[in-house]
Amino acid sequence: MRGLSGLAQPVPALPSEESIVRSTGSSPAQPPSAIPLTLRLNGREAAFAVEPEVTLLDLLRERAGLTGTKKGCDRGQCGACTVLVNGRRMLSCLALAVAHAGDEITTIEGLSQNGALHAVQAAFVEHDAFQCGFCTSGQILSAVAVIAEGRAQTENEIREAMSGNICRCGAYANIVAAVRALAGAR
Ligand code: FES
Ligand code: FES
Repeated sequence: MRGLSGLAQPVPALPSEESIVRSTGSSPAQPPSAIPLTLRLNGREAAFAVEPEVTLLDLLRERAGLTGTKKGCDRGQCGACTVLVNGRRMLSCLALAVAHAGDEITTIEGLSQNGALHAVQAAFVEHDAFQCGFCTSGQILSAVAVIAEGRAQTENEIREAMSGNICRCGAYANIVAAVRALAGAR
């Protein structure tokens, strides 16, 4: 290689990993080890071993195989990853799995009982409240919680309480109709 002076410059050799270890006396950085974690998943006890940085969303999708919970933005902006944690709505992409040891997690797969759709699921079907369906799991779980919280008395209340769930297809009118009919809203 020719430098700015026009003379050939020697290229310094990179130190080998072995020589770094010898000079610092420590081994190369190790990935954090997995932590045992038990939680109640859709009514059943489930045990995992997860690294501290694994989100609840990734645990559900990648480790538990429950892909009904969707990964939209992965940064808390769309609501597609909404699940119920101890009955309350939570964005699973913003939650670390290890922070939920012992918690009761409900995903869309856990809503139907004995093969029968949950009332909110049935209302979504009846009112044609989805198009592509990507946001639907989060919308349904959000609606379950909003109705349980008694925050679905009027159309405006439903729209406000579910404003964290984005639908790119614009199926809002039918989603609101489904929740409204079920909750007996004005
Ligand atoms: S994937 Fe969690 S809010 Fe979008
Ligand atoms: S039905 Fe497609 S994003 Fe809502």
